[in-house]
Amino acid sequence: MASPVGAAYLDSLFGLEVPGRGQMGEEELVTLVSEVISAGTDTSATAVEWALFHLVVDQEIQERLYKEIVDCVGKDEVITESHVERMPYLSAVVKETFRRHPSSHFVLSHAATEDTKLGGYTVPKNASVEFYTAWLTEDSNMWEDPNEFRPERFLSGDGVDVDVTGTKGVRMMPFGIGRRICPAWSLGMVHINLLLAKMVQAFH
Ligand code: HEM
Repeated sequence: MASPVGAAYLDSLFGLEVPGRGQMGEEELVTLVSEVISAGTDTSATAVEWALFHLVVDQEIQERLYKEIVDCVGKDEVITESHVERMPYLSAVVKETFRRHPSSHFVLSHAATEDTKLGGYTVPKNASVEFYTAWLTEDSNMWEDPNEFRPERFLSGDGVDVDVTGTKGVRMMPFGIGRRICPAWSLGMVHINLLLAKMVQAFH
């Protein structure tokens, strides 16, 4: 979907015809709009707050991050998306934030479309299933000292090669995984990286 400049998400929904159902009713429009607002704001804000908490508590992490930013962009230049792609320590801080403090400890409510067996449980058709996904990153069999905030683990430790989308293997799932993965996970990642880099550059 490519929207014309200035068009709102809501405009694109007004024009959408769901095959076999026609246009959406008000209830569905309101649900879709509120979903984007609630799914896209608190998740990002929570991640940034936790990252800032750790940068304040552990000044060594903040120093290392500030140095990376200044070496890459300078003290006053505007940081862009292409800059943050060249900041491995920033990426490690963001991933460690998602590992240690996933914005959501559960994914959204899921349901099976037919009676299903899963992990030894019988899931009846239409039953709501709530997955506690944060256990992955709390498990000491999966992560060394899981309660410690240590971005370095993503540069040369137990976090190297860990994939946040669960495509290569599932060691953390801050955005869920599979068909119901957060549709904005890459936007979320870029957003948090940029926001954090800009804040640390400005408020070192
Ligand atoms: C750092 C930021 C974010 C995190 C950690 C995050 C995390 C998640 C998680 C865990 C889910 C549930 C996946 C599941 O049920 O399996 C989800 C779903 C969703 N997210 Fe995000 N999200 C973020 C940013 C955003 C943004 C910026 C938007 C929109 C602009 C967004 C829109 C959505 C929507 C619409 C869903 C529901 C998808 C569905 O019903 O299948 N998210 N997100």
